Amino acid sequence: MPPVALRHIFDQVVAYGLHDCLELGTGFGTTACVIASALDCIGGGRLVTIDLDQSGPVNVGRLMAHCGIDPARVEIVAEPLGYNWWLGDALGTRHGDAARERGFDFCLLDGAHEWNQDALAFLLVARLLRPGGWLAVDDLDFRLRQVAERPEFGARDPRELDSFQMRQVWDLLVQSHPDFGDRHEFPPGRLGWARKLRPRHTPLGWLDRLRRAQPRRLGAPGF
Ligand SMILES: C[S@@+](CC[C@H](N)C(=O)[O-])C[C@H]1O[C@@H](n2cnc3c(N)ncnc32)[C@H](O)[C@@H]1O
Repeated sequence: MPPVALRHIFDQVVAYGLHDCLELGTGFGTTACVIASALDCIGGGRLVTIDLDQSGPVNVGRLMAHCGIDPARVEIVAEPLGYNWWLGDALGTRHGDAARERGFDFCLLDGAHEWNQDALAFLLVARLLRPGGWLAVDDLDFRLRQVAERPEFGARDPRELDSFQMRQVWDLLVQSHPDFGDRHEFPPGRLGWARKLRPRHTPLGWLDRLRRAQPRRLGAPGF
């Protein structure tokens, strides 16, 4: 992820005080370290970061140690079935872990980059985010064709390889979701940001939607 995108993630966590964070797709742990460092700046919080496997030679635990990040700050989850199973468990049980029970203030979706998996991931995360919480969808302008040499993508259908699958999630699901507002891209073509609104059946949720329907006249106030 380019530094400008990492910087924006850091800034958003700090600016909005996003204490309970969720990352879908840990990779080597770069973004996890950035989010955990932002949590340090706001004096507390927790990140749950999920990947299929966390045991590679370069992994988030090692990177955190290298960066001097408190291990208690990050829950590292290896879920071989994929994050949608973890999200399903979180929705189904909603007890035990305190963060899951209360929901999340921020979710970075940066995992499979595939419509089949990430459309569902978004719909599950939409239920777990708290009102006022932010979602960031990475790689809006990415196609699997860019990494088609990897063995796991070799036999894919050309449509899967050539579609902008995260753009599909963004355009078809996030942009039209009635519970989200304040949608924007930053950096453009890279991260899509959307904020969960307060429930529509509450007076404040109803007001939020009225305000957002008139952004030019009234500004777009946060809450
Ligand atoms: C682009 S990397 C994440 C990079 C990381 N967010 C960063 O910028 O430092 C995507 C990761 O998602 C993981 N992934 C793909 N599909 C997944 C799934 N269904 N469940 C969990 N992790 C998945 C891959 O194993 C890979 O490590």
